[in-house]
Amino acid sequence: MVESYRALRPGLTVPDGALIAAFHTDERTGAAGPVYVMQRVGQGWKYSAFDADGRATEHGALALCERCHAESPSGGLFGLPR
Ligand code: HEC
Repeated sequence: MVESYRALRPGLTVPDGALIAAFHTDERTGAAGPVYVMQRVGQGWKYSAFDADGRATEHGALALCERCHAESPSGGLFGLPR
């Protein structure tokens, strides 16, 4: 799974059930910010958001997340900076 994410390029995606988390930090203070999670479910994605203390704030087919991620080059993912 980690390999398929690292090898991500346009047209590729990750296996069903894969979980990917993005941990945000405040660039100025270094403080922990929200954690965004995506899970591959069939051909789609489930999205969740947690606050810095791990409390779930949103879950499901979140329209806000979906709108941006639908524009990614690799089936919903942007991948690591290169
Ligand atoms: C304004 C557009 C936008 C919105 C809205 C958005 N994202 Fe993202 N997301 C991005 C971009 C661009 C990246 C890749 C660059 C980065 O990591 O900052 C990314 C990266 C990610 C990643 C790392 C995996 C990857 O390579 O794509 C996860 C997980 C993620 N977002 C989850 C979410 C969740 C959950 C939501 C809704 C709560 C959300 N995002 C809303 C644009 C967006």
